[in-house]
Amino acid sequence: MTFMDMNKQPSCSTFFSAVIVAVTMLASATVAAESTRESMRLVYAALSELLPAAFNESSFESESSTERLASALEVLENSAEALVEHVGESPTEVSAEFMGLARSFENNVALLRQSFDYHRYNEFNYLLLDLTHNCVSCHSRLPADSGPPFATDLVEQVDDEFYTDVDRAQLLFAIRRFDEALSTLESIIRDLDIEPIELELDGVLFDYLANGITVTRDVERIQKTLADLKERNDLPYYMSRYAGLWSEHLDALQADLIEVPNLSKARDLFRQSLNLSPIPSSQVRMVYDLVVSAMLRRLLEQQTLQGVDLAEVYWMLGVISIRTVNPRPGVPHTELLLESAIRAAPGSEYARLAYALLEEYNRVSFAGIPTAELPEPVLNLHELAKLAGVSK
Ligand code: HEC
Repeated sequence: MTFMDMNKQPSCSTFFSAVIVAVTMLASATVAAESTRESMRLVYAALSELLPAAFNESSFESESSTERLASALEVLENSAEALVEHVGESPTEVSAEFMGLARSFENNVALLRQSFDYHRYNEFNYLLLDLTHNCVSCHSRLPADSGPPFATDLVEQVDDEFYTDVDRAQLLFAIRRFDEALSTLESIIRDLDIEPIELELDGVLFDYLANGITVTRDVERIQKTLADLKERNDLPYYMSRYAGLWSEHLDALQADLIEVPNLSKARDLFRQSLNLSPIPSSQVRMVYDLVVSAMLRRLLEQQTLQGVDLAEVYWMLGVISIRTVNPRPGVPHTELLLESAIRAAPGSEYARLAYALLEEYNRVSFAGIPTAELPEPVLNLHELAKLAGVSK
């Protein structure tokens, strides 16, 4: 289906009016009072305008759509700004990470705007798909039930356009349709036409376990998928070994996903995870680390931690994200976690540890790849050095 066909459909004109209303609403002084959810509805409406166009060069170029794309972009910009302001109203340590994620979102929306203004179709297409990484970074942090009822038709609208099923799953995660996103990944994991190595390289296994363990917490479902993975007779030995170990680990840690999270237990598991392998980046730690990270996330949600404990929790999350994560291009999540550790207890040992790690990671990622310097609105290293108490 093309973007033009869709314009004739009533659902799209509803979106369009939603977008117009959105612009008007956001232009008013109530911007700061917008709740996160309201901002998100606007973001979803804007994405529903932009995504089909990003897949269709002629519609991207056509004059008739330029205006509506421009207003959708404006909604996206205003919502990103509203998110930052909304969080900025209560800048507690707990929200330092969220604030950073919102700033990173705003920054990436600005890049998207540039590519639109310069009519760079390919870049626009790429950046828009990449923007879904921002959505996922925010949404995949906490347990969730089924997705919002209004976010139903976007994926179907562009279903034939995805480059890969991994992109499809990514968009489903972005709009919080977690159950379908996991089903999409499950079919990839079971598909014998897909080389096992691709499950690793495309982050399929990581995204599946991360969202299964943190967001949906359906252990039985994950166990079934791990068993199916292990059954594949084209699996190299090391992967089938991982599948078996992950399954054992999940069994052992199952209760920790549900029970009231506890800092000293999380700390213990964090250390045990380190002892699982002498290889620094071994994937054998995946389930342990993801369970610890889910526990720490839920602890943060309770907003009872302070000072050095809070700094330690963010530092552990930062370390876990370095040793397990499938890094999402364009979202400096690891850096933001380390920043949060510094802000939680300025001048403390954890602040210095986090600063040292941040500085090193920001220069050369531990995969040996030089990382791009982060824009100052997203991360101010100079200020963080002062807070950590290490500036000369
Ligand atoms: C800075 C963090 C952040 C970013 C970036 C972000 N979201 Fe959200 N989003 C949230 C939070 C927090 C919620 C509320 C979740 C909850 O209630 O558990 C949410 C909820 C939603 C919802 C459900 C709203 C409802 O009424 O239930 C949708 C849809 C959504 N986001 C879409 C998106 C899309 C699409 C993107 C990217 C283009 C995005 N979000 C980017 C933080 C973010």
